[in-house]
Amino acid sequence: MNSTLASFFYPKLPNIIGHRGAYNSAPENTLISFRKAAQLGAKWIEIDVRLTSDKIPVVFHDNDVDRTTNGQGPVQSFTLKSLQELDAGSHYHIDFSGEKVPTLLQTITLCIELNLGLNIEIKPNFGQAAETVTAILATINPFQEQLRGNVLFSSFNLLCLKKLINLCPEWPRALLVNDLNNDWLSNTKALECYTLNPNYNCLASIENIKSILDSKLRIIPFTVNQISIAKNLLRLGVHSIITDDLKSLKSLKDYKH
Ligand code: G3P
Ligand code: MG
Repeated sequence: MNSTLASFFYPKLPNIIGHRGAYNSAPENTLISFRKAAQLGAKWIEIDVRLTSDKIPVVFHDNDVDRTTNGQGPVQSFTLKSLQELDAGSHYHIDFSGEKVPTLLQTITLCIELNLGLNIEIKPNFGQAAETVTAILATINPFQEQLRGNVLFSSFNLLCLKKLINLCPEWPRALLVNDLNNDWLSNTKALECYTLNPNYNCLASIENIKSILDSKLRIIPFTVNQISIAKNLLRLGVHSIITDDLKSLKSLKDYKH
């Protein structure tokens, strides 16, 4: 497997990855959250990326801006300028008011400065799988040298992963799944995935973990916030844990596999 994945791009996976930055400690998917994650000792963060109406990749989880900003409506109805006029910090705490929605480019620049690795989850707006991947690659490809070993793409969306392997097979890919009922094995093979990123509930059975590892995939479950569960998963051979709670899982940073 991974015949098209150049060794240059192999991700140096850490034990712990901060979900949306430092989800429990700062407003999700903002620059201050990424700085906080680094302060809390994270070596990597996970972010969600989608497009604005003027096709700029921005770091944003939901389809709509309502939950995490003071605006209303779908992200894809906002230009970058109008999106960045919104307050993306106050929903978390008034101390973070004025925090902006970051672009992918701003995020990459900060991560290079902080030496933070990036798990980029591609979350396309409806009908925008291909153009989202094209725009993300146009943004990230100039930074290949600086990001060496520090990037993993992931998506629930098979079209995004197909577009990624067609346009730039060198970047490592992960398939995200909420369950193991469907075609995770054939899909990860066809898409030459480096890891499977399952909802951690899929890993309640040791047999499931074994079958994923037997298929030569690495495993990065989301979103694990209890240290006992995280420790057990690492002991059972899981490679990295995506967590909201970097403070609680801090001691696992140096866990030896
Ligand atoms: O990438 C893991 C996790 O972020 C997937 O779910 O909804 O939090 O983006 P979600
Ligand atoms: Mg995500």
